[in-house]
Amino acid sequence: MKPALVLKAHMSQPKSSNNVRKRLLLAARRAMKNAYAPYSKFHVGAALLTTTGKLFLGCNVENASYGVTNCAERTAIFSAVAQLGPKMKIQAIAVVNNRNAPCSPCGACRQVIYQFGAGAVVYFLGSSGWKRMSAADLLPDGFRLS
Ligand code: THU
Repeated sequence: MKPALVLKAHMSQPKSSNNVRKRLLLAARRAMKNAYAPYSKFHVGAALLTTTGKLFLGCNVENASYGVTNCAERTAIFSAVAQLGPKMKIQAIAVVNNRNAPCSPCGACRQVIYQFGAGAVVYFLGSSGWKRMSAADLLPDGFRLS
């Protein structure tokens, strides 16, 4: 998995366009193949586009101590921060799973997405199809340390 690919083809298009969504969903499916989910067997992939046009992938990584499990979204975000540093901002993030089941980011991931981009666009499968929501709408009154 390459850590940072630049989405050159989309630089001239409006961010979070339909094309970006498709590219992100495709990349998220690629990331899903690396999931480590021997307990739930629920494989999740995430693809994150930074405000500077870089792509990062993540998958869920489970653990025998269940609570230590890392979701796909946070894996992608932490990877982006590790590569780009603390100024990294999320433009958009997409999430897919191997059951095509409704799967919105969990509460912990919502808080982490919010931290790196309250305006970030989040694509996920809702109970009646694909949804596109901002991080702030997914997490009203998200916590900020001020
Ligand atoms: N999971 C994610 O990776 N992202 C989500 O948005 C929801 C849940 C993972 C955590 C765990 O490995 C498995 O899915 C079942 O909860």
